Amino acid sequence: MKDKFGSIVILAAGAGTRMKSAAPKVMHEISGRKMIDFVLNEALNASNDVILVLYHEFDAISKYINENFMNFITHNNLRITRQDHENFPGTGGAIKAAFSLARHDRIVVLNGDMPLITEEFINNLNSTENEMVLAILEMDDPSGYGRVITRGSLVQKIVEEKDAMASEKFVRSVNAGAYSFSKKFLADNLDKLDNNNAQKEYYITDLVEIAFKAGIEIAAVRGNKEILMGVNSKEDLAIAEFLQQKRKKQILTKSGVIMRLPDTIYIDDRAEFEGECILENGVVIIGKCKIKNSHIKAHSVIEESEIVESDIGPMAHIRPKCAIYETHIGNFVETKNATLKEVKAGHLSYLGDAEIGENTNIGAGTITCNYDGMAKHKTIIGKNVFIGSDTQLVAPVTIPDNVLIGAGTTLTKSPNSGDLVLTRSPQTSIANFFYKFFKNEPK
Ligand code: UD1
Ligand code: MG
Repeated sequence: MKDKFGSIVILAAGAGTRMKSAAPKVMHEISGRKMIDFVLNEALNASNDVILVLYHEFDAISKYINENFMNFITHNNLRITRQDHENFPGTGGAIKAAFSLARHDRIVVLNGDMPLITEEFINNLNSTENEMVLAILEMDDPSGYGRVITRGSLVQKIVEEKDAMASEKFVRSVNAGAYSFSKKFLADNLDKLDNNNAQKEYYITDLVEIAFKAGIEIAAVRGNKEILMGVNSKEDLAIAEFLQQKRKKQILTKSGVIMRLPDTIYIDDRAEFEGECILENGVVIIGKCKIKNSHIKAHSVIEESEIVESDIGPMAHIRPKCAIYETHIGNFVETKNATLKEVKAGHLSYLGDAEIGENTNIGAGTITCNYDGMAKHKTIIGKNVFIGSDTQLVAPVTIPDNVLIGAGTTLTKSPNSGDLVLTRSPQTSIANFFYKFFKNEPK
């Protein structure tokens, strides 16, 4: 039991209008994961009682959560509740829907649009005993955020951008959208919220002034935008992804991955690395990849694949479902749904829906013709096969071990082990035709 951490309520019921998207805001992706995943993962690490408040796109988001956080839902560590948005719109309305469900006496409240929040920061918010704790962020450009107005050393109120006077807009201390409360404080004060503001919404932030007026001292926990930034627009989304990438790459380099010009590299948050790996500039790793003791050269793209003891690229494209072991993949090679073990494919090839065995050499320009216009077919290549350049392997086709395929072959039938296969037409020469054709004499 993680009782000391209290409950956590995540507010994710908003419409997300500023994203200008049909997709709900918290379902937008950062480094391959949905924004809500980041917040939920940290919250579920910090607490055994997490409540997610939804309203807009309730069905789509809750279906996703039920499928992807099934274990936590089953164990009642994560519950979903619906905001009474018709009657109580706004972040104040959202917390109203959830606080009474909390099983602990302290409640951390997090905006659902803060994907960079960490478990450590959540624990920090909860480590003070004040009835209300507020996370504060200093921003060079505070626009869009609620400004934190102080009186002396005390936090007095939060003024939303749309309600702020000109002088208040200069304030650079802003509300991060992460709070901690005693359950009793919420029970005593939530009904005091009103919607007398520019947006006609119930603001959770008005609890600050309510506390101030009641002489309740609010504790402030300061953080930086690398942890606390909120995402309201696609521009924010890009900034948050950049910051998340930076964090992920720092962790990876600390654990031993070498990166050349790390700011040019993109790594999906689901990717895993083991042993000594080198990623050169411009490398893109997408999806759930596993990369072990391998060298990925400049501008290669790896998608949902496993790469072990291999070197890839430059400029290679490893598409989903590849398993590549002890293999050399050179420039302009594309693979898809292919298993390669101890293979050399140095140049300009397409290897799709293929299995290729040990010590096999794939010549430049080899293409597995895996698609006949209706269905995909498999190419199986055995061990010690030498495939000459510019060869088409028309699938389905199997090449057994120990076969030599001459350059320019179009292979449509499976050969026997030990064969040399050739499909080229015999070479013919017509002597001195050049000179006749261009009507000039040999020099
Ligand atoms: C909010 C804060 C602002 C703070 C900023 C930090 C309020 C009134 N303002 O503004 O002081 O500086 O976050 O990023 O709280 N939501 C609901 N139900 C609703 C409306 C919103 O659950 O009816 C959820 C949203 O899905 C979102 C979060 O609450 O995850 C914050 O809402 P948003 O509209 O992004 O508020 P901001 O304008 O960013
Ligand atoms: Mg926001």
